[in-house]
Amino acid sequence: MALREIRTIGDPILTKAAKPVREMTPRVKELISDMFDTLHEASGVGLAGPQVGVLKQIVVIEVEEEHPYVLINPKITKEEGEQTGYEGCLSVPGKSGVVKRPEHVIAEALDENMKPYTIDAEGLLARCICHELDHLKGELYVDLVEGELIDNSELEKEEQKTEEEPETEEEPETEDRKS
Ligand code: NI
Repeated sequence: MALREIRTIGDPILTKAAKPVREMTPRVKELISDMFDTLHEASGVGLAGPQVGVLKQIVVIEVEEEHPYVLINPKITKEEGEQTGYEGCLSVPGKSGVVKRPEHVIAEALDENMKPYTIDAEGLLARCICHELDHLKGELYVDLVEGELIDNSELEKEEQKTEEEPETEEEPETEDRKS
């Protein structure tokens, strides 16, 4: 197990576009394995190459435990619908903000054996794919946030309030997800 340092907002590498992976090498394999270790250690759901200082088009996602995805050179080929909810990022520690994303995306990518595959994703997985692919373009979710970024401690208070008053009107999902 090897952990990589997670770069945080202000680090210029997070604003740079990542380059496609041409071939699978032992070094790239090791990077992917380290990215999963780093993701698990940080209790996140997704991590992109630039976040660990590597400008390669590699994303790891584990929205559901035991359901890991490796996306190499990914592209979104279809977007449908809309979802609005809180989003966080391991590169923006302690903060969350409301972001609108498509409810349904189809993405094409290569797996860890450089074999092409398609992901058909809805809900949180769709949100996560959009968020991580933005990282590969050098974009952070903070530029898409509606309203203000809030501290996660504020979000927790809001969640408790929502639980105490179940009759209130529909509010954005308040799951704490970092990717
Ligand atoms: Ni992120």
